[in-house]
Amino acid sequence: TEIASRTAAIIQEMKGLEGPLLPILHEIQEEFGHVPQAALPVIADGLNLSRAEVHGVVTFYHDFRARPAGRHVLKLCQAEACQSMGSDAVAAKIKQLLGIGFHETSRDGSVTLEPVYCLGLCACSPSAMLDGEVIGRLDDEKIDEILAEVRS
Ligand code: FES
Repeated sequence: TEIASRTAAIIQEMKGLEGPLLPILHEIQEEFGHVPQAALPVIADGLNLSRAEVHGVVTFYHDFRARPAGRHVLKLCQAEACQSMGSDAVAAKIKQLLGIGFHETSRDGSVTLEPVYCLGLCACSPSAMLDGEVIGRLDDEKIDEILAEVRS
């Protein structure tokens, strides 16, 4: 398959790295938008690991998605500085409004919600990232803007 052959090429390119598994998984996610199930046995064979080991790493690091993301990806910072500025309440509100939790994609495929641990924007906590763009000082107004954007 296309996934298997592309995955094999990425492994070939990167397996010389020290600790190649994480960079390979990142590259695969970059390429496909998620880490497809079909890539796992190819990685296991290529790196001489068991499938269980590869699967364990993919599920341990929440950066990796097992399924394709929605059209928009909204990441909410849940690290300390943002926590102290109410990121929990912000996350609860957004989850409720979207009807999904972290690591889930809305039914219509419009948005995937993910936690992130520090966006380097601590001075403007609580912060978020929408499709790669950082947004600081999340308040009700900004939350409304974000939701309008992901629903449009
Ligand atoms: Fe949220 Fe640093 S803790 S941006």
